[in-house]
Amino acid sequence: MSSKLIIALDYSTADEALRFVRLLSPNLCRLKIGFELFIVSGPDLVKKLVDMGFDIFLDLKFHDIPNTVASACRAASGLGVWMMNVHASGSDVMMRTAKQALIDCDSSVKLIAVTILTSMDAQQLSKVNIAYQPNEQVKHLATLTQKSGLDGVVCSAQEAKILRRQHGKEFLLVTPGIRPEGSEKGDQKRIMTPAQAYNAGVSYIVVGRPITQSDEPLKVIEEINNDMS
Ligand code: C5P
Repeated sequence: MSSKLIIALDYSTADEALRFVRLLSPNLCRLKIGFELFIVSGPDLVKKLVDMGFDIFLDLKFHDIPNTVASACRAASGLGVWMMNVHASGSDVMMRTAKQALIDCDSSVKLIAVTILTSMDAQQLSKVNIAYQPNEQVKHLATLTQKSGLDGVVCSAQEAKILRRQHGKEFLLVTPGIRPEGSEKGDQKRIMTPAQAYNAGVSYIVVGRPITQSDEPLKVIEEINNDMS
């Protein structure tokens, strides 16, 4: 399995998600499950998709006290997922404790951290009393994440080039906000094409609506995989 494409399964029921997933195969893509689908269909759907052979990114962005986050990560690793995430702003202690919990249970799940949500700009950061520009804060939190022993970060593809330079080849850069040439932007603002993201050094791209709402999802997937190979 080598695809750099993670499809965001942003469906509101397990049936809808499964109907779509049955068109796919694990050698074409990996899958991301976020809050909505996890809340409605829970661990059963995750396990089902894992059993179908897919690499699952469980995107639940844990942010709580270290012990609680570590326990949540341990529980999530029991589902057999490939990757999960926490918020870097939860602190280095929280990230380290979570990583250690995964090491202690012999889990090889990738643990990455959300730096600054791409929906936040400088004005919104200032309202939560963070006076830095978003890109400065992203760089700071990515450094904290790496020092805490995590495998990588979720970031915007626009930040990928500098983070790749700063953190080396192995550090995972996982980027949403990707739009193939000619597709609808939707609510995403700072977008890049798959090829641009690849050239910026990202490890994986997360793509939702351009695939899930397409009349020809397999064609879009094939084009993206070609762009990223
Ligand atoms: O449909 P679209 O390609 O915009 O989907 C992007 C996915 O990535 C969604 O599941 C969204 O929640 C997620 N995401 C994002 N921006 C972030 C973090 C996650 O778009 N900063």
